[in-house]
Formats: sequence, C-alpha cells, structure tokens
Amino acid sequence: MCRAFTWLTILLTLALTSTASAGTSHDPKGVHLSFGASDTTMVVTWTTRKETETNVRYGPSDPGGATPADLSINAIGDARKFVDYGSTSSVRYVHVATLEGLTPGQIYEYQVGDAKLDRWSKVFWFNAKRTAEQYAEGPPLRIIALCDIGFKESDSVVELLTQEVHGEQPPDAFVQCGDFAYDLDDENGGVGDQFMKAMEPIAAYVPWMTSAGNHEASHNFTHYRERFTMPDRSKTDNHYYSIDVGPVHIVAYNTEALFWPASFGVEYIQRMYEWMEADLASVDRMRTPWVVVHGHRPIFCEAADGTSCAFNENAAFLQSGKDARDGVGHALRFPIEDLFYKYGVDLAFYGHEHEYWRTFPVYDEKVVNGTDVSLNRYFEPRGTVHVTTGAGGNINMDRGDDPPSRGTCDMIKDNSPWCAFQSGVDHGGDRSQEFAYGVVTFESGSKMTWEHFSALDDGKRIDLWSIETSSHGPFARRTYSDNLSDAALIATE
Ligand SMILES: *[C@@H]1O[C@H](CO)[C@@H](O)[C@H](O)[C@H]1NC(C)=O
Ligand SMILES: *[C@@H]1O[C@H](CO)[C@@H](O)[C@H](O)[C@H]1NC(C)=O
Ligand SMILES: *[C@@H]1O[C@H](CO)[C@@H](O)[C@H](O)[C@H]1NC(C)=O
Ligand SMILES: [Fe+2]
Repeated sequence: MCRAFTWLTILLTLALTSTASAGTSHDPKGVHLSFGASDTTMVVTWTTRKETETNVRYGPSDPGGATPADLSINAIGDARKFVDYGSTSSVRYVHVATLEGLTPGQIYEYQVGDAKLDRWSKVFWFNAKRTAEQYAEGPPLRIIALCDIGFKESDSVVELLTQEVHGEQPPDAFVQCGDFAYDLDDENGGVGDQFMKAMEPIAAYVPWMTSAGNHEASHNFTHYRERFTMPDRSKTDNHYYSIDVGPVHIVAYNTEALFWPASFGVEYIQRMYEWMEADLASVDRMRTPWVVVHGHRPIFCEAADGTSCAFNENAAFLQSGKDARDGVGHALRFPIEDLFYKYGVDLAFYGHEHEYWRTFPVYDEKVVNGTDVSLNRYFEPRGTVHVTTGAGGNINMDRGDDPPSRGTCDMIKDNSPWCAFQSGVDHGGDRSQEFAYGVVTFESGSKMTWEHFSALDDGKRIDLWSIETSSHGPFARRTYSDNLSDAALIATE
C-alpha cells in the first residue's frame, strides 16, 4: 500500500513535471512596452511559444506601493503567428494589447497572460504618459538613448539601465536606435528570445521605442517587424513614425532603407522622405518645442583612420543627398540633413559606430555655433547637434588592454572640425571601447541636457552638456539672442 502510494507519487510527480515543462511554452516571454498612438494608451507586446489568449489585467498602483494593486481592469489584444524562416521553422505567437483610458502620470501595475489557462507573467508596473503640464511641473522628461545592445557583452550596461529604471526617478522612455541582440534571428530566433528576456527588467517597465539597424536586415527585417510594436506599425512595419512626449516631438526613421536596395527602393525612400518632411512641417513648436530624430546610421561620424564619414563613408552622402567624393557611388541619396536644417531639428542621435561622440551644432559640414558655444554649453545653436550613442555592449566591441580614449577631438580636428567630444573611439593601439549610455533630460522648453555614463567605470558620468535656446523652429528663421542673461531663458530654467 505504502509502496504503491510511493510509486503513484513518483508517477504523478513525473506527469506533473512533464506537463509543466511542455506547458512553459504557454508562458509569456519578453514582455515590453511602447507608447501607443494616443497619449492615454500604452501598448504591451510579448511572445508565447504555444497559442494562447492575449489578456492583460491591470490597475492603478497603491500610492505608497504598500499593497499590491487591484488588477481588475482587463484588456484583450490580438496574437499573430510568426513562423521563423530558419531551418527549424520555429513558431512564436506575438501578442499585442493596448491599455486604453489611462490616467496621465498614474502608476499602473499589470500582468499579461491567458485568463482561461490562468497562466500569467509576473506583475510589472509603468508610469502612464504625463501631460505637458505634468512634465513642466517636474520631474522633467528623461529619456535613455542607446543603440547597438547585443545579447552578449551587454550585461554591465543592462545592469546599469535596470538600476536607472528601478531607481528613484525612472526614465520616461528608452530609445534604442537599431542593432538588437546580434542578432534577433540567430539560432532560429533563440538569440532574439534570450535578448528580449534579458531586456524585460527594463522594457516591461519603460516604453521601449525603436528604429532598425543593419543587424535586423535579414529577410527584409522580419524579426524587427514581428517583435516590436511601434506607432503606425500596420503602415510602416516599425520603420518610421513620430510621437509626442511632453515637450518633445520624437521622429524615428529608417536609415537602412538607403543601404539595402534589395529590400527597399527609391520609391520607398521617397515616400518616407515625404512623410518626414510633412511630419516635421506639422510640429507645433509652441506645444512641443523640441524636435529629436533617431535612426541607426549617423550623418556625421568619425572613422578610426582619422577621416570623417562625411568624406569617406557613404552614410553622410546618402543622407545629405550629395555626390560621393571618393567613389562611393550609390543610387539612393536623399537630402535628409536638409530637412533637419529646414525644420529645425534640435538633436539627432544614432548608433552603428560602437562609440560615443557628439558634434558642435553643424550643418552641411560647417560648424554653426551661434552666439556662444562652449564645449559643454551650446547657447543659441544654429544647426542640429548630432550624437552617436552606439556602445550598448555587443560581440563586435573591443575590450583592449588600454583604457578607452576619452575627451575632446584633438586627434581628428582636421578632418572633423564638428567633433566636440568622444569616448571609446578606436584611434589605433589596443584601446578598449567605452561601454556607455546616454540620459537626455528636457528641463524646459529652452534647455535640454545630455549626460553620458560609462559602464566600464561603474556608471561614472563621463560627459555632460546642454543645449540652451530661446527659440525653436527652422534654424534660418530663429531669432537669436546675443545676451547670455536673456530673460526668457532665465525664467524657464
Ligand atoms: C520590405 O519591407 C518593406 C516594408 O517594411 C516593403 O515596403 C518592401 O517592399 C519589402 N521589400 C521586399 C523586397 O519585399
Ligand atoms: C565652435 O565652438 C567651439 C567651442 O567653443 C570652438 O572650439 C570651435 O572652434 C567653434 N567653431 C567655430 C567654427 O566657430
Ligand atoms: C541682457 O538681459 C538682461 C535681462 O533681460 C538685461 O538686464 C541686460 O541689460 C541685458 N544686457 C545687454 C548687454 O543687453
Ligand atoms: Fe549597425
């Protein structure tokens, strides 16, 4: 009797164990947020390996956070079956649900899963997007800006980002401008799954807004299209869109369209270009004074051999619409930089180069400093400031024996007079690259600050600089103040 019972127990245990392991594929994986089309929505995306319902239960968080929230509000989303093109034709169900009618600035707790099966993720939280007035009252809008984050070699950066997200004042959004996982589709998508899981401590709490890089190019950016849910996804496959967050209008565009003619073509870029121009022209600068653009490949960059990509690499030509100067011929040239100047894009950032560097205000390869630009304070700039923040940690980054180079751009001044500050640029030797991330704070309609933190140096701040401007809009039409103690600036600081 006793023995029979023991065997029964063992059999039952075995049965339960195997159910559990087969059943884990019903479990939600890679939960992440993104801003929805309307200000009072938040979009949740996740995957399961087996078909399940798409349910979210959520509710406002108890102000002190002492008791768990009552997750009594339900959202039902949609799932799509995504069959990978790899050798095993692995199957994922990508679930997308939109949480609507959110109270601005309210903290919500939520979990995702399948109500019928009663299988749920852990409970996450997020801050509903604040109103412009709430951002103005403070704390100000803060955005993490970092591209080129791989699954491997990114631990130290991901840990610091996780601390930011779970710290005193979580950032309002996390923008990753391309190159995910290295690569999302590797090992039949297994690398992508692991990466999305590793990013969950960040992306399940803070909206993760993206643009695509060359590492997503396989099969016409299939994994990028399937795994993310950006605004206008149904129209642009996550490649270009814009959102307003507090005082900032953020535009994402597809730099890769210029480089993968087999996937895209002139007509595609023409469409995107026209969309971008109409989008930039329509921004109400009274409502969203700042305009920020991100994409994967920089317009201005710096190459290891001491020449700038505006001269010898195709990125700048393609995005400036100019002819290649040293034989880099390419059909797909579009004067994207001209749009930045014409409509007054304050800041543009990119990745691709696994380093950090920023320009002085620049347009058409000329530094357009304005009234009083110093290394760390760009006062009344007369052109866009470009930043490369592509050191998210990935298998292509070098960890040389020597510390990274860090500082002003003396060594490349002749070729890149627009370069203001850099870190982790490989100038030969055995230098390590600098694993680092940016935090951008929009203090007011007239001041924004970029801080850069190094993961090689335990999160030490390695750069701090601001743009201060008393007017926004087309650079050619801005009114510039010659007076450093301008009243408008002081009033809003
Ligand atoms: C690749 O995808 C884009 C949309 O993301 C589409 O416009 C284009 O036609 C596709 N290219 C090919 C070759 O299918
Ligand atoms: C722009 O300002 C920086 C910092 O003051 C200075 O080093 C640089 O020479 C200036 N460039 C031009 C073209 O005025
Ligand atoms: C600069 O602006 C301040 C505040 O508006 C004013 O008091 C001061 O006289 C101005 N200085 C010059 C040189 O115009
Ligand atoms: Fe890249």
